[in-house]
Amino acid sequence: MDPRPLLNGHRSIRSYRPDPIDDATLHDILHAATRASSSGNMQTYSIVVTRDAERRRALWRMHFEQDMILQAPVLLTFCADWHRMTRWCELSDAEPGYDNLLSFLVAFADALITAQNAAIAAEGLGLGICYLGTTLQATRELTEFLELPPRTFPATTLVIGHPDEDPEPRARLPMESIVHRERYEPFDDERIRATYAARELEGWNRYLSFPELADRMRTSGVRNLAQVYTRLKYTREDNDEASEILREGLRRAGFLD
Ligand SMILES: Cc1cc2nc3c(=O)[nH]c(=O)nc-3n(C[C@H](O)[C@H](O)[C@H](O)COP(=O)(O)O)c2cc1C
Repeated sequence: MDPRPLLNGHRSIRSYRPDPIDDATLHDILHAATRASSSGNMQTYSIVVTRDAERRRALWRMHFEQDMILQAPVLLTFCADWHRMTRWCELSDAEPGYDNLLSFLVAFADALITAQNAAIAAEGLGLGICYLGTTLQATRELTEFLELPPRTFPATTLVIGHPDEDPEPRARLPMESIVHRERYEPFDDERIRATYAARELEGWNRYLSFPELADRMRTSGVRNLAQVYTRLKYTREDNDEASEILREGLRRAGFLD
């Protein structure tokens, strides 16, 4: 089986039909997810499935009211998880040493790799997916709402459902700006500009096609795509504030001093 058509045809879906996903299909997606590699085969992640409409509405609020959450029948929240493993060690007279940054990163990687397996499995079954990066901005609320125990932490979320749109795959940066042979090949300013030249146009036009963002682009006076990122979409202020909440959450979960 050649995976390339599936992988190369990927596009995020943000509009869904309300049709349910049956139990067997969801089981297959979750099973394929857990077949992913994980550090030491410890599987230091958990997946919380949300299907209930009321609970999806609550998650919709936490995820900045992204409407696809109300449309799609399944939300999967992938969590870094040392809770299970730590207790197993304690019960086995083995002293766990997993309350630290390295362990968090190991579990975070496990959770993301598992999520991507679920994404590919869902797409292979003809469903659509979209990641929700807002997970990292809502870790406090998600921890409470999903009743996550200590030593667990929300890593990412997948929306899964039947697509109600058929967008073209989005362009990527040129391969030669991503792949370095043997050692990192330096970027002078000309090469940086060339790398982002096509993205500059594609991204700018894409954001102009969203009425609310287009309004903000006009009123804020941003002049290029990089300014859209730094001044409107992913600002230092927001990033610093979210990072502080993350640090607090990681401390509470037991991964930071
Ligand atoms: C970690 C992560 C978080 C994301 N968060 C969101 C999100 O909150 N909302 C959204 O609409 N898309 C989200 N996306 C989807 C990206 O915007 C999308 O992957 C990117 O624009 C490339 O488009 P494509 O997936 O269609 O190729 C996220 C993707 C990733 C990998």
